[in-house]
Amino acid sequence: MKVLIFPDAERADDHVAGLLCQEVAAKPSAVLGLATGGTMERVYARVVDRATAQGLSFRDVTSFNLDEYWRVPPHHPASYAFYMAERMFRPLDMDPGKCHLPDGLAPDPEDEAERYEAAIVAAGGLDLQLMGLGLNGHIGFNEPTSSFGSRTRIKTLAESTRTANRPYFDTSDAIPGFAITMGIQTILEARQCVLLATGSAKARAVAAMVEGPMAAICPASALQMHRCVTVVLDRAAASELALYDYYQSVHPDGAPARVP
Ligand code: PGA
Repeated sequence: MKVLIFPDAERADDHVAGLLCQEVAAKPSAVLGLATGGTMERVYARVVDRATAQGLSFRDVTSFNLDEYWRVPPHHPASYAFYMAERMFRPLDMDPGKCHLPDGLAPDPEDEAERYEAAIVAAGGLDLQLMGLGLNGHIGFNEPTSSFGSRTRIKTLAESTRTANRPYFDTSDAIPGFAITMGIQTILEARQCVLLATGSAKARAVAAMVEGPMAAICPASALQMHRCVTVVLDRAAASELALYDYYQSVHPDGAPARVP
């Protein structure tokens, strides 16, 4: 794992926005795995700014989101379809035919999961999967004890996840209990993974992911098996890493490693 520790969240966000833009500049038809959540909101605003400033087109990009709530319609402001349209797809003029999320209104979750996996394969697989980290160590909605061999499927959301997502829903709305999410194996098959976590609330999950045993209780620890993962942190999120000084010596404040 490449562990990059930036002095603050702004610089960490900016680095991730830069990685996404670099990927698209190098391969305009890139297949991106995208994520949602509060962390990514800031990243996407920066991607839009950078792409506009650089004249970088996302028109040929294909995207697959990690997850979508089950039975929340795409026009609902808390749905991930709505989130992505507002923050990425529309501002970057992405081709709606190339932007994919699991369909939370599909008649059958198992058929929908199979269709989604097949669509990723048909697109040639994911070049870069972007993700945040749950307080409980989840990636996508792969909650603790998800199988490392899991593929896209419907998952029951953990109570802590539902509590964390409550602010996105009106008080009158029921908080969804289920979501369709890419599996851990689906994520591990991406050619490159980039995980961003900022803030002290994530420090425990970060330490478990990077330095803990590979165990289903921390789904993100499965990333230890992937050969091309970049973990982007601010100092607060990195604060519980036992080898903090080592990571900083390799990439001081997130800088590229010096090649001997
Ligand atoms: P957050 O969510 O960015 O809103 O903290 C991250 C996640 O649950 O993956």
